[in-house]
Amino acid sequence: MDFELSETQRLIQDTARTFARDVVAPRARDTDRLERFPVETYRQMGELGLLGVNVPPEYGGAGAGVVSYALAVAEISRACCSTSVGMCVTNMCAELITQFGTEAQRKRYVTSLVSGEAIAGAFALSEPHAGSDPGAGRTTAVKKGDRWVLNGTKQWITSGAYAGVIVVWARTSNDGNRGLSCFIVEKGTPGLVAGKPEDKMGLRGSNTVPLTFEGCEVPDENLLGKLGDGFKLAMIALDGGRIGIASQAVGTARAAIDASVRYAKDRQAFGAAIGEFQAVRWMLADMQTQTSAAELLALRAASMKEAGRPFSREASMAKLFASEVSNRVADKAVQIHGGYGYIDEFPVERYLRDARVQTIYEGTSEIQRIVIAREVLKALG
Ligand code: CAA
Repeated sequence: MDFELSETQRLIQDTARTFARDVVAPRARDTDRLERFPVETYRQMGELGLLGVNVPPEYGGAGAGVVSYALAVAEISRACCSTSVGMCVTNMCAELITQFGTEAQRKRYVTSLVSGEAIAGAFALSEPHAGSDPGAGRTTAVKKGDRWVLNGTKQWITSGAYAGVIVVWARTSNDGNRGLSCFIVEKGTPGLVAGKPEDKMGLRGSNTVPLTFEGCEVPDENLLGKLGDGFKLAMIALDGGRIGIASQAVGTARAAIDASVRYAKDRQAFGAAIGEFQAVRWMLADMQTQTSAAELLALRAASMKEAGRPFSREASMAKLFASEVSNRVADKAVQIHGGYGYIDEFPVERYLRDARVQTIYEGTSEIQRIVIAREVLKALG
């Protein structure tokens, strides 16, 4: 980063960078190729405070703020996006329960998410027919005495088969978006079944599963926030989540630049290193410029959230721009590597596969444009 970081921010960045270099990066290829969900890595991240960077220390978090969180996600993503996506979702769940949970929920669930004891958190919002439009979700929660009974199917649930704590959205009335409520479900609750992991293009070490709820009962005290407030809780969590994905995209783009610079200095053609040629230099110049711009947008959104200012538009702008940059930059990295970019001897093909979902999850680029345009029109109206 080119501007001054506080001591805490630098400490978190250094911690994440060292851990990424020494632990995450050496495992990254196998995490991807062998589809190895990084359980041990998450336990270690819990010990380092990386699963609750913006969670207060009284619940086990690092209490280091949103900018620190963005910096940490970028560092882990530079090494392995399969690992960082689970980190992002766990931080997002921990923050959501911290913000809207009762004291008992915070003590029970936030502490276990942040310490790594729960391995990961899962954010069960999307359904097979309701991704961009979560208000169309059909999973139901029906009150039975002092318990809620959940029925339905969620899809694309990151870490779903491993997560010890799952935040689930379910319909408690037929009142559209206002009919959604939010519940905390623990792994192992009878009636909760994780399906077959998706065979994905990228993020192959991350676990993405459907979750089925068949008469899955949770006590009344597992309602998160107020009845009918589920849609708003989802939107608030996703605003913050988008800062995480923007930072993940920044880390991916940085990794692609690192690999391209190494290759451009090493690879000889026509009697010189290819980095001597203008065609490659211009690509590197554009990659660096776009990535720095993406990083600044992500950190601006993070510092606005940290300052308690409205940041929906900034988070969407950062996520939209950074995810499109990571795709362009990873694509150029493959181009610079030529044939070697297309095989798994070099990591850039993984960066390109991993970048692809960044324009899709936590709101597609088209959804980000809806959010941004609404805010722009509101400001002018
Ligand atoms: N913060 C707080 N409240 C918000 C809000 C926000 N950012 N955005 C909307 N709301 C409130 C509105 O004020 C409104 O409240 P009232 O009912 O009191 O008026 C209510 O929520 C409904 O808002 P909208 O009318 O704007 O809702 P909409 O149906 O038009 O949808 C949308 C808006 C932005 C398109 C939204 O549906 C959306 O973000 N869709 C994308 C969903 C998404 O990102 N899914 C990702 C899945 S999770 C994932 O990928 C995680 C993973 O595992 C990696």
